[in-house]
Amino acid sequence: MTVYLDYAATAPLRKEVFECYAEHLQNLGNPSSVHSTGQKIRRALEEARESVARSVDCNRSEVIFTAGGTESDNLAIKGLYWQRNSEEIVRPLIVSSGTEHHASIDPMEWLQNHDGAEIVWLPVDYQGIIDFDFFEKFLEENHQRVALVNLMWANNETGVVTDMAKVVAIAKKFDIPVHSDAIAAFGHIPVSFSNSGLSTMSISAHKVGGPVGAGALIVSRSTKLVSIIHGGGQERGMRSGTMNAPVAKAFALAAELAVAELETETKRLSALRDRLVQGVLALSPLAHHTARDSKRMPHNAHFTFEGCSGDSLLFLLDQQGVCVSVGSACQAGVNGPSHVLVAMGRTEREALGCIRMTLGKESTDADIDAVLAALPKALDGAARAGLTS
Ligand SMILES: Cc1ncc(COP(=O)(O)O)c(C=O)c1O
Repeated sequence: MTVYLDYAATAPLRKEVFECYAEHLQNLGNPSSVHSTGQKIRRALEEARESVARSVDCNRSEVIFTAGGTESDNLAIKGLYWQRNSEEIVRPLIVSSGTEHHASIDPMEWLQNHDGAEIVWLPVDYQGIIDFDFFEKFLEENHQRVALVNLMWANNETGVVTDMAKVVAIAKKFDIPVHSDAIAAFGHIPVSFSNSGLSTMSISAHKVGGPVGAGALIVSRSTKLVSIIHGGGQERGMRSGTMNAPVAKAFALAAELAVAELETETKRLSALRDRLVQGVLALSPLAHHTARDSKRMPHNAHFTFEGCSGDSLLFLLDQQGVCVSVGSACQAGVNGPSHVLVAMGRTEREALGCIRMTLGKESTDADIDAVLAALPKALDGAARAGLTS
């Protein structure tokens, strides 16, 4: 039996979503075609847009469908940066944090390496919270040179939730657009785009039980972006390419279900998570619960284990049928300390010993029993191997 505790990497495709996807895949037509067959597909696509808009609380015209979270972050960061530098004024600065996902870090670094951008890395404390005083003071002194602020809503590794209202309130004083990667947050904690004051926000389908390769960038009506993909001018000219109605329908259903179940799932998963955290801490004095004083996602439990390598632990748990992760799955196969933990002030040695366990729709008490039963053997093996493996 496999115990899957890696929902933050990807959540299982929900049965109802699979059925919806399969049904719509069989429908002929291009949503941009003028004939009635095309227009039928167009209606399905627009229904999906309406539904995603309801799920994130925005206007339907603000939903730009993309092929996933990475594309959404790239479109927002590059698109805002180029838009803000398309006028006379030069604004090279992008204000962000070292705890961002690589889908955000890499486009910022690309702009730095190829297009004159300068990234301002905000200090982050031991609990994963950005230094708001530094942030505000920095904007006070440098706002004329800032193109955008880019801060994620919730961290995908540690589960730490950012106070986005505070971020936006500070940036708004200086009329600076804010992008937020809400991929780890959406479907797990309440996310309202219209109340957030954000300019752009990324979401991804496969984190909420939808298909991989589907996502959206929510772009406020007052925000202009330079597109990164050019072609037929679909999606308000921001994302060319034939629009994928079946995938949009499946994404919309997954999002709707996740939001409808959010309250009950939050209660259920936080209780399971608390049992897991207490169980792990009771098992080993080497275990430390990450960012335990911060506001965190209800389904995330993140630990560091002194003197153990996260990779060894992952492997030894996997041998016993338990799937966990050492950090972001997008960096799977890349050995090295978690950049998120290093940004939070952990030593490289500490950051090498982390494990993330994330729960979801199908997680049960039996999964918690199974991981707690498997951990002693894994911890023993990992402690003996030390940090050499
Ligand atoms: C916070 C965050 N941002 C971006 C992504 C990338 O999203 P996608 O896999 O849809 O490209 C992920 C996925 O791991 C994520 O967790």
